[in-house]
Amino acid sequence: MDNNIIQKLVESAYEAQTHSHSPYSGFKVGAAVLSKNGNVFSGCNVENAAYPLGQCAEATAIGAMVTGGDKAIEAIVIASPNDEACFPCGGCRQKIAEFAADDTPVYMVTKSGSLHPVTIGELLPYAFRDTALAS
Ligand code: THU
Repeated sequence: MDNNIIQKLVESAYEAQTHSHSPYSGFKVGAAVLSKNGNVFSGCNVENAAYPLGQCAEATAIGAMVTGGDKAIEAIVIASPNDEACFPCGGCRQKIAEFAADDTPVYMVTKSGSLHPVTIGELLPYAFRDTALAS
């Protein structure tokens, strides 16, 4: 994937991260999705005093993509607040897979800018997919 596009997504994820509502964990996460249509959508984690209602940054970004009318992910970047890659939680892996192919790239970026690329197929092998609903 083109480095300029990745950098654009990284900047978008960092910007979204600044809006994180995470007073309970103090863990600010940002995410940016590039859709197949070439649009960029971003999101941050949104926590709640009722802890289980908190939403991950990836879910916010994917919700923005769907709200914007797009249904396919070309790439996604997840920005961590420290120098460890923030891998998506199990639920978010499933949410990404809903709109992605096995080879869709997922880039984790750290606070200092280190990029860790993987695919959603690596993060979530044997994903449950809509094809399973057909039979
Ligand atoms: N979080 C994300 O937003 N994305 C991830 O990939 C992992 C965790 C959020 C959820 C919660 O608001 C905080 O980080 C601590 O778990």
